[in-house]
Amino acid sequence: MTEPTRTESDAPIEAVLPYASGELRVRFDAWLDDALTRHTHALEFREIRQGVRALSSLWLERRAGGELARRAIEGQGKRAALATYFAPLHLLTLHHALQQFGDETLLGVRRIFDLGCGTGACGAAAGAALARPGSILGVDRSAWVLGEARRTWSQFGLRQRTRRAELPDGIPEGSDGDALVLGWVVNELEAHPRDELRERLRAALTRGARVVVAEPLARGVSPWWEAWGEALDARSETVRLRVERPAWIEKMDLASGLDHSTLGARVMFAGGPARPAS
Ligand SMILES: C[S@@+](CC[C@H](N)C(=O)[O-])C[C@H]1O[C@@H](n2cnc3c(N)ncnc32)[C@H](O)[C@@H]1O
Repeated sequence: MTEPTRTESDAPIEAVLPYASGELRVRFDAWLDDALTRHTHALEFREIRQGVRALSSLWLERRAGGELARRAIEGQGKRAALATYFAPLHLLTLHHALQQFGDETLLGVRRIFDLGCGTGACGAAAGAALARPGSILGVDRSAWVLGEARRTWSQFGLRQRTRRAELPDGIPEGSDGDALVLGWVVNELEAHPRDELRERLRAALTRGARVVVAEPLARGVSPWWEAWGEALDARSETVRLRVERPAWIEKMDLASGLDHSTLGARVMFAGGPARPAS
């Protein structure tokens, strides 16, 4: 769930970065092409655009009534929007955030647990940031997204397993060498499972795991953010980056009235090597 970024009063925006380079770019382009081929097969452009608008509105404005995870994949248009638009945006946002935070963020990580993995975007971004090829375990409540995630990780060359489960119950324990990655998912949990999840993450941190949480910039969707930062003793940053858009994303942005010429998110990192005092 990325959202258009307001930049008027924010810190200066840097130069426009390529969205990806080298092997990651080749894999990303092939992955997006594959998703487009499959999801535009039976849908017209306007149906996917409607899906983009519906998801954006569901995640940011029409949250009352809960059950966001179920409502987000109702219908082909929303599924196509998730797979071809929001997931690529999440992948690029987390990729650039990890680059910005530096190599030590996932140093020594060999296994990624992508929790609430959706179509696999955040696991792919984290996997691409590892020094050596690692493995992924994806957990999600939806069988449909898990199928998409398996396809994603194959395309990014990552060893993988998936587990269909309801968070927080499905999460593996995690210890040294593991990174628990939660991209744009914690805001979908109700208060009780969310608190329980936070405690399980704390326990994983005490065993030496890392934790990465990404959420939209809009503060209203994650009012628990500061409390989580304290509880996990995390480094929390607001990321805003000018990144060149893949042609499809730019086209969909224009058509749907959204603007992702700046990628934005709040990102939290916990665990790992101690940081020098600033
Ligand atoms: C907005 S999507 C984000 C997906 C992916 N992490 C990304 O960044 O593209 C949220 C995902 O979390 C999953 N999810 C939400 N609540 C969940 C729960 N209680 N248990 C398991 N999965 C859940 C949804 O099924 C959905 O795939």
